[in-house]
Amino acid sequence: MSELKVFNSIKEFMQYRASLAPTIEVGFVPTMGALHNGHASLIKKSSLENQLTVLSIFVNPTQFNNPDDLKKYPRTWEADVELAKTSGANIILSPTYEELYADNYRFQLTEKEFSKNMEGLHRPGHFDGVLTVVMKLLQIVRADRAYFGEKDFQQYKLIQDMARNFFLQTEIVGCATVREADGLAMSSRNVRLSAEARKKAPLIYKVLTEYSDSLIAKGLLKQNEIELEYLEQHHGRRFIAAYLEGIRLIDNVQI
Ligand code: PAF
Repeated sequence: MSELKVFNSIKEFMQYRASLAPTIEVGFVPTMGALHNGHASLIKKSSLENQLTVLSIFVNPTQFNNPDDLKKYPRTWEADVELAKTSGANIILSPTYEELYADNYRFQLTEKEFSKNMEGLHRPGHFDGVLTVVMKLLQIVRADRAYFGEKDFQQYKLIQDMARNFFLQTEIVGCATVREADGLAMSSRNVRLSAEARKKAPLIYKVLTEYSDSLIAKGLLKQNEIELEYLEQHHGRRFIAAYLEGIRLIDNVQI
């Protein structure tokens, strides 16, 4: 299983999937590309726990409420293929919008409670797009396990709950956030930060771990030209979202 195969066609991937022996355990890492060491840790975990690891790369337009954010989302195909290979992925599935959304997003999946706070409140429609695309991908890949980073904890929890409530056969596995040496959570958006902003960005993690009062946090971040969007506690965790040079970064920790 060492050769890396790339499928752009869902139909061809599904034929291949159907040809695999039922005893082969399949792990799945869904991504939007712009892969970094956080993704590498998910792929490595999957390849340790499964015989075959499928990585999907699809920049999902339905989860972007801001067209500029979608346009500027980094696309780094060659580097992604390299990282996929060295981390142990066996398959890359990179479908077209036309095939994945043959219904042109006529059918959507909506959660009505937890998805309405934090990311969902500040990015209307975001989780409808995430849940819909993840449901489609889980149906296509039919993995034994699917791996999600806890940096997007709200997303991970919603997907875990969705899988349980729709009786999906895939186990949803949450994986600890991978951080840079200075504490900044790894994110595909970090590459868009200027050198100056990159130096300030770890303050987001520092504030997250040291302050629970959002007014105090807001003031501290503002002194460094970081605009706080929210600092909130749910499910025994504290969550933050903030803008730096117009780039939106999120993080969370257990408290
Ligand atoms: O976390 C992401 O990269 C995306 O939200 C996901 C889960 C791949 C769905 O597009």
